[in-house]
Amino acid sequence: MSQSTTEKFTSRDFRDALSSFATGVTIVTTRDAQNTPVGMTASSFNSVSTEPPLILWSVTKTAKSAPAFKTAEHFAVHVLATDQTELSNKFAKSGADKFGDTSFSVDANGVPILENTAARFDCKTWEVYEGGDHWIIVGEVRAIESAKKEGLVFGGGTYAVASPLTASKSAETRETGSSEIIDDLLFYHLSRAYHQMAHQFHDEVRSKGLTVAEWRVSACLYAQSTCRFTELAARTFLDPQSMEDILSSMEEQGLCTLSQTDGERSATGTLKGHERVTSLIELAKGYEKDIMNDIDDVSPQALKSTLKKITTSALNS
Ligand SMILES: Cc1cc2nc3c(=O)[nH]c(=O)nc-3n(C[C@H](O)[C@H](O)[C@H](O)COP(=O)(O)O)c2cc1C
Repeated sequence: MSQSTTEKFTSRDFRDALSSFATGVTIVTTRDAQNTPVGMTASSFNSVSTEPPLILWSVTKTAKSAPAFKTAEHFAVHVLATDQTELSNKFAKSGADKFGDTSFSVDANGVPILENTAARFDCKTWEVYEGGDHWIIVGEVRAIESAKKEGLVFGGGTYAVASPLTASKSAETRETGSSEIIDDLLFYHLSRAYHQMAHQFHDEVRSKGLTVAEWRVSACLYAQSTCRFTELAARTFLDPQSMEDILSSMEEQGLCTLSQTDGERSATGTLKGHERVTSLIELAKGYEKDIMNDIDDVSPQALKSTLKKITTSALNS
């Protein structure tokens, strides 16, 4: 393969461009030569061939798990469900004790099998290719499990769920009076309200040169407030690596400062960071006001209080 490039770009530019390609999220597991379970989060999973059934994924050569995957005879690819972001973050931490408090079983080949995933591909290693700083691992699929759960999505440096494109205004009108079952589901209305509101606002965010993930982090640090990394990750739905990238780039630009509080890393917004998102905060408030002006049977405060209760109840259930 030719090494030549016509235009220079940084590895950050390369990763940013790649982040517009949304993928699913998987955890790939195997065991090492000592029979210890090994696993890592990977979004590079893809299908290759139907006959024979082949899949691939790639592992960075610097990953602690890389030697085990390079020599493994068998491995399993678990497609994560939308409620498994915590598991994804856990398996994205290098060298951590990932299996310590994770429920799993072991299959006939000694491969750790995780619970409650959306789908699983049990594979025999077909070939391992060198691909720059990654090993490309091709597996022959020997068995599959599918739980018909919705798969988690990763794009723009953040976790997401897949949902159909926003309905057009005319489709909206035609739908009025529909007796579809989904019309009765709270899930449907929460998700639809979010997408309808976010669609337009996120275009404004991008037009200011920010990604949605950067906007979320900046908004959390608005008014020069301080936030622990774990709290920021929970509030912004970001995976640890993307959050590290965003915060170190923001620190370089003077938009936040990073520190250590009680053994945990924290970020604090700066005046410059505050100024960067002031107009977007005002815009968000304006959108909210316009939408709520048309709704006279509930106040914005009452609606927000109900939504907070839904979040707390969902977290505790
Ligand atoms: C959503 C997501 C997708 C990832 N995809 C990959 C991938 O495809 N290949 C890879 O090598 N690392 C990927 N990573 C990073 C690894 O999970 C991370 O480097 C992990 O710490 C490796 O663990 P280890 O060093 O203990 O082996 C991904 C991380 C996240 C959060």
